[in-house]
Amino acid sequence: MPVIKVLFVTSEIAPLIKTGGLADVSGALPAALRTLNIDVRVLVPGYPQVMAQMGPSEVVATFNELPGFPPSRLIFSIMKTGVPLLVLDCPKLFSRDGGPYMDPETGHDWTDNPIRFGLLSKVAAVLSSDASPLSWHPDLVHGNDWQTGLIGVYLSVATGAVPNIITIHNLAFQGNFRPKKVKLLHLPPDCFSINGVELYGKMSFLKAGLYYAWHITTVSANYACEIQGDELGFGLQGLLQSRTKDITGILNGIDTSDWNSETDKYLPAHFSPTRMSGKAHNKQALQQRMGLQVDPAIPLLAVVSRLTHQKGLDLLLEIVPRLLDFPVQLVILGSGDAVMQQDARDLAQLYPGKVAVLIGFDEGLSHQIEAGADIFIMPSRFEPCGLNQFYSQRYGTPPVVHNTGGLADSVVDCTPETLKDGTASGFVFSGMTTDNLYATIQRAVDLYRDERKWKALRKNCMKKDFSWESSARAYREVYLKVLGRS
Ligand code: ADP
Ligand code: GLC
Repeated sequence: MPVIKVLFVTSEIAPLIKTGGLADVSGALPAALRTLNIDVRVLVPGYPQVMAQMGPSEVVATFNELPGFPPSRLIFSIMKTGVPLLVLDCPKLFSRDGGPYMDPETGHDWTDNPIRFGLLSKVAAVLSSDASPLSWHPDLVHGNDWQTGLIGVYLSVATGAVPNIITIHNLAFQGNFRPKKVKLLHLPPDCFSINGVELYGKMSFLKAGLYYAWHITTVSANYACEIQGDELGFGLQGLLQSRTKDITGILNGIDTSDWNSETDKYLPAHFSPTRMSGKAHNKQALQQRMGLQVDPAIPLLAVVSRLTHQKGLDLLLEIVPRLLDFPVQLVILGSGDAVMQQDARDLAQLYPGKVAVLIGFDEGLSHQIEAGADIFIMPSRFEPCGLNQFYSQRYGTPPVVHNTGGLADSVVDCTPETLKDGTASGFVFSGMTTDNLYATIQRAVDLYRDERKWKALRKNCMKKDFSWESSARAYREVYLKVLGRS
């Protein structure tokens, strides 16, 4: 079968720049696709973190006259995974301290985000049409989330445009701006309509992406259904329903070499399903590091997450005083919403030795928590896929999850039947209430006290296959379909 050439466009990629799961996916999926005879190259903005870490590089193109955008250039490099990288270097737009999306001084999004990600989309479109200055021409361009949403609009007026698809990682982030951006971004003037980039009077990057893409994928089959309904459609359900035949849900995988309890460089001790003593060592080290009472017997609950409304952690914080009666310990690593951060800190202060909170982003600690904890908590209100439930299962830390999105697709609720047939891998609750969350954590803690059953549950978790292999094959099927080759 001939090689398929794919330009994969993303606003973050691990390990170079990461705010969430999109980075993990962008770091691992292209590498998995390359093993399937797909020549993927990744286009990513040249933030300082990317420029500093990208390794040997070479300038392969310059763009001095893209209407509406400052000059930029394209730098070629290769990731450690072997995936070729095209870094979009535009100092005026990307060379600044802070996160990829947010101004750390104001705590708000960068005001020029439409231009920043407009340029990312524009350059992706140039590289995917006759105007490309490169000798490598993709057969297809694959965008991710709203930051790449304008690719299809630009391609709609380009010559030699290749097909484009978009993956929705989170429909809640849409990139909606004032209509005057249509002119600033030099979009075709007639695109500001319901049949184009307009969404409830705004110009919407994501709406544009979903309208112009040849095919839409999202990161779990369950979420692919949910976003076509009123509750989780975020105003785009009508459009998504009209495109239902063009939507495919493909569950994310994980990087099984980064997340390998037998080799993980962040862990003080390694372990495997047949040699679990290392897990106890990790628990002890985590309790020590986080200032919790060192006690092997007390169940240690854990959270690693953005602290936002989506993640439902307000419910968990509310029931902490009741949970501590079991007794349990709780460790939280996360950052986000200022109120939630403060509530978490207050609990740590109120319950020293029992609740430990670290506000910030710490990759190494996130691995140590997944390995050292006993039970992982993810009460997300919605969750397109979620990655931590994979990591925790793989590290023998059964998760408690809300019955939504990819959580429902990747965790099997523990019942006498599922324990018996070896499929149980966590605890799933329906109905977003504190009582339901409390009762489900209680169910998990009760099982923890039954050593034989807990061991069986942990083993089920650890033997599950979360590698990218089958998901990458599903992406290849989508590519082939879009290219008319299947
Ligand atoms: P989302 O992308 O919605 O935040 P995911 O579960 O898909 O949720 O991915 C989150 C990723 O970010 C995971 O790899 C998780 O471990 C990581 N992460 C989230 N918060 C932190 C943090 N404070 N420190 C380290 N890693 C974090
Ligand atoms: C988004 C979603 C998360 C998903 C991740 C990677 O950030 O919130 O559920 O796992 O993207 O696809």
